[in-house]
Amino acid sequence: MRYKTLCFGSIFIFLAYHSYVAIPENIEEPWKVRIIDAGMKISSLMATLLENMGLMKFEEFFAILMGFQDTKPVSDENITVIDTDFSGIPVRLYLPKRKSAKQRPAVIYIHGGAYILGSFKMLPYDSVNRWTTNKLDAVVMAPDYRLAPQHLFPAALEDCIFVVKLFLQDKVLAKYGVDPTRICISGDSSGGTLAATVTQLVCFNDSQLQKLPLTYILTCEHDILRDDGLIYVTRLTNVGVPITHEHIEDGIHGVISFATAPFHLQLGLRLIDKYIIWLKENL
Ligand SMILES: *[C@@H]1O[C@H](CO)[C@@H](O)[C@H](O)[C@H]1NC(C)=O
Ligand SMILES: *[C@@H]1O[C@H](CO)[C@@H](O)[C@H](O)[C@H]1NC(C)=O
Repeated sequence: MRYKTLCFGSIFIFLAYHSYVAIPENIEEPWKVRIIDAGMKISSLMATLLENMGLMKFEEFFAILMGFQDTKPVSDENITVIDTDFSGIPVRLYLPKRKSAKQRPAVIYIHGGAYILGSFKMLPYDSVNRWTTNKLDAVVMAPDYRLAPQHLFPAALEDCIFVVKLFLQDKVLAKYGVDPTRICISGDSSGGTLAATVTQLVCFNDSQLQKLPLTYILTCEHDILRDDGLIYVTRLTNVGVPITHEHIEDGIHGVISFATAPFHLQLGLRLIDKYIIWLKENL
C-alpha cells in the first residue's frame, strides 16, 4: 500500500513539475488555462511514450483524443446540417431553414490543427459554425482537408483551393441561395493561413496582393504566430488593402477552440463574438 502511494505520489509530482507553466499576469481564468496547458503537455508526453514504445504514432494518439470532440451533423429548428463531399473532399454544410426572399451571405470556415489534426466535426468548430449561421443568417461551408504527415504539403492547400473553387461556381451558389458578392473565407490557426492563401490564389491571384478584399485579422499577444500575423497586417496595409486588425493583449493561441465544454474559456467566447459581430457589420 505504502509503495503504491509512493508511486502514485511520484508520478503526480513528476506530471505537476512537467506541466507547470508560468502564465503571464494579464491572462484571464489562469487556472483553467494552466489545466488546459497541462493537459496538452501530458498528452504530448503520452504520445511520445507510445510512439517510442512502437505502439502508435504521435499524431494517431492525438487524433484519438481529438476524436472525442467529434459531433454528428445535427439539424435543429433553425439550421439544416449536412455532411457531404465535394468531389471526394468532405464538407459540412449549415443551411438556414427559414425561407428568405433574398440571397444569403456565405462563410467558408477552414479549421485549424497545425496541418496535422482537426476536423469540422469537432465540437468547437461545429459550435462556431452554428453560431455564425444563426447570427448572420448565412450559409456556412466547412471543409476538411488532407492532413500531414500522411499527406504532405501542399495537399491541404490543394484540397482547400479545390473545394472553394467548386463552392464558388455559379450553379453551386445558386443551389444554396448564396449571394456571390457576399462571401467570406475564414479560419483559425493553420486554417487562418489556409484562408489567407486560398483567398490570394483563388480569388485574386498572388501577384495582386493589393486586390485582396476587406480583411479581418485577429492576432493574440501570447501566440507563436503573433509576429506572422502582425507582418501580414503590415504587408496588406502597405499595399492599401482595407483591413480591420484587432490585437488581443490577453489572447492565447487557438482560443477559438476553447469556447465549449469541457475547455470553456471566456476569452474564446469573447473572440468568437468579435469575429461574428465584424462579419455581421461587414459581410
Ligand atoms: C433558433 O433561432 C431563434 C431565433 O433567433 C433562437 O432564439 C433559438 O435559440 C435558435 N435555436 C437554436 C437551437 O439555436
Ligand atoms: C495572375 O494575374 C496576372 C495579371 O493579371 C496574370 O498575368 C497571371 O498569369 C495570373 N496568374 C495566375 C496563376 O493565374
